[in-house]
Amino acid sequence: MILALAPMKDITDLAFIKTLNDLNTLPDYFITEYFRTVPHHKKLDPYILQSITKNPTNKPVWGQLVGTDAPSLVRDALKLLQNGAAGVDLNMGCPAPLVCRKNAGGGMLRTLHEMDQVLGQLRDALPEGKFSVKCRIGFEYPEEFERIIPIIAKHTPDRLCIHARTVKEGYRSSVHPKWVAFAKTIYSGEIIANGNIVDTETAQSWINIAQPHGLMIGRAALRNPWIFNQIREMISGEKITSHKLSDLLTYIERLLENIKPLQDPLIEEKLIHRIKKYLVYTVRGLDPQLDYYMKRSKTEKDFLNVCKEFLNNDEAFPILPPEDTHLFAHFGSLLCD
Ligand SMILES: Cc1cc2nc3c(=O)[nH]c(=O)nc-3n(C[C@H](O)[C@H](O)[C@H](O)COP(=O)(O)O)c2cc1C
Repeated sequence: MILALAPMKDITDLAFIKTLNDLNTLPDYFITEYFRTVPHHKKLDPYILQSITKNPTNKPVWGQLVGTDAPSLVRDALKLLQNGAAGVDLNMGCPAPLVCRKNAGGGMLRTLHEMDQVLGQLRDALPEGKFSVKCRIGFEYPEEFERIIPIIAKHTPDRLCIHARTVKEGYRSSVHPKWVAFAKTIYSGEIIANGNIVDTETAQSWINIAQPHGLMIGRAALRNPWIFNQIREMISGEKITSHKLSDLLTYIERLLENIKPLQDPLIEEKLIHRIKKYLVYTVRGLDPQLDYYMKRSKTEKDFLNVCKEFLNNDEAFPILPPEDTHLFAHFGSLLCD
């Protein structure tokens, strides 16, 4: 079972990759947050690029592109390979209105003729083993996947990651794993299932329902970075390692140290603002006071003091986030499918 970290804009950067490496809990591969590809913009974003050029792990990093102009996508895809990317992933799922309006990201799923052209040109330009697609199952309705998947399959990307929601469903609905099982009947490459995996049980449910070649985990890895090791333990029938709140403190301290060298110039308030982007996911289900005081801290010293006050102890870290928040919702339905 292949495990992947889901790309997340402004979050799954070099600092987070380094932190997973420090904690010794690595997925089998990474995909960068998306590089925006447009005809007039020829330089790859240097902040994102360093996840590839300075990758400290022995795991491959794929570069992800979002765009709709085929020649520009080919241009940037080749540049990614020249810069050491393990391969190129095409984003066909981003629901941001700004992206979709241009028929890029999730917008591609409602302009199938253009999607067909783009996939064809990328496939022609990229060597075997270097092309993957990350898509949703439709723009408005899951049934759209019946028309989408044959077009993707025709262009034989080497790997297909399916975030099993429609674009309209955003991030908070239940997922639809049966459509991933359906994809297997049409597409013969590697399929990676994505959406609402928050622990070993939800991972196991995905495996039972869709039998994918791999699983991709996003938000839950920000809350519980050890989820990759735990899923591996579950698969090999070992006891699942549990963690303490003090382990969470170590994670936060490592992340803070790894963010620092990426901030140029290093401004304390910005540093604290930056780490909060990751930690909104992390503190779900813990003492609400931690969230309250963390949000209000402005200096590194205050921030670390708050973290230490609440986390420097041997209490168990609850693996499951609460289900009723806007950040984690409806994962329980995976267990009923
Ligand atoms: C804050 C945020 C940023 C995201 N940025 C990207 C992105 O750059 N590229 C992409 O393909 N998906 C992006 N996604 C979607 C995730 O990769 C993933 O498909 C989604 O979160 C569902 O997986 P999960 O339930 O494990 O989080 C983003 C999701 C979130 C929450």
